[in-house]
Amino acid sequence: MENDFGQIIGKSKPLRDVLEVAKKVAPTQATVLITGESGSGKELIAHGIHAHSDRHDKLFLPVNCGALPETLLESLLFGHMKGSFTGAFANQEGLFEKARGGTIFLDEIGEIPQHLQVKLLRALEAKEILPIGCTTPRRIDVRVLAATNRDLKKEVELGRFRDDLYYRLNVMEIHIPPLRERPEDIPMLIEYLIQKHNPELKRNFKGAQPPVVRALMSLPWKGNVRELDNVIEHIMILADGEWITLNDMPPALLNSDETVPPFTPDLKEAVMQFEKQHIVRVLDQVGQDRKEAAKLLDISLSSLYRKLEELGIS
Ligand SMILES: Nc1ncnc2c1ncn2[C@@H]1O[C@H](COP(=O)(O)OP(=O)(O)O)[C@@H](O)[C@H]1O
Ligand SMILES: [Mg+2]
Repeated sequence: MENDFGQIIGKSKPLRDVLEVAKKVAPTQATVLITGESGSGKELIAHGIHAHSDRHDKLFLPVNCGALPETLLESLLFGHMKGSFTGAFANQEGLFEKARGGTIFLDEIGEIPQHLQVKLLRALEAKEILPIGCTTPRRIDVRVLAATNRDLKKEVELGRFRDDLYYRLNVMEIHIPPLRERPEDIPMLIEYLIQKHNPELKRNFKGAQPPVVRALMSLPWKGNVRELDNVIEHIMILADGEWITLNDMPPALLNSDETVPPFTPDLKEAVMQFEKQHIVRVLDQVGQDRKEAAKLLDISLSSLYRKLEELGIS
């Protein structure tokens, strides 16, 4: 079930393409910019790249560049000298030095303030840094991986992100498509996530029934794999039995207007999506009266029940 690129689950074409590039770039020293929506697996891929490089036995240090005020971020990354600002009671080594021999992962790089963009460019180009309050540059030996959920090119056009830094980071770009564009990965992920949560929740679910899997495959997953993970955990906490059934699904998920079917080229799948949408609409019209709905749909009541089960409509 697992990919040979660590714990990255999925066999869809878009994900396989991502992994192929990641594997090629891993053993090099290249800076990689990983793009994709939140929760799509950017940090997981970054970690995989580190694990497949010859730096794997040294540190992998992730830093969220959007989470800290400018001075703190500068000090965290580049370090500072005692007395260089109020509260700097001792010399402090920055992560660029701590990660020596290893990899630093700059998450949400699009959030990094302009002034630090200059320092970062210098670190990448000259392979040296200047801790705050220090006048002699220090050599660094660190590989930089970066990630963003923003359109950095647009940020460059808007003048918010330096173009020289953008080109320097973008030597290699890996884009992870959102989960809704690779629904084929969802069944494997569900299975993996159930097995992941079983021990910590002290449960013993065997899996999810096919209508559940189909229903989950048709959701837009704005929070991508992270959101799917949370939903599976939520369901597992509340559900009983060995298999997750449609009854265990949070109603808000099933009836949400958000269930805009994702685009699927497969005709059978597309027809099913349309059938589902249509039946749900008719049921809504008649206040969930199934007899009445069957009449309007011009099918027998038993065919309607079969369809409801098949299409994962509760
Ligand atoms: N293909 C995948 N297989 C298994 N777990 C995944 C996959 N993609 C993402 N995850 C999990 O989803 C969560 C969010 O992934 P993360 O790499 O932090 O996303 P991002 O950095 O893009 O926000 C993590 O718990 C991660 O382990
Ligand atoms: Mg992240």
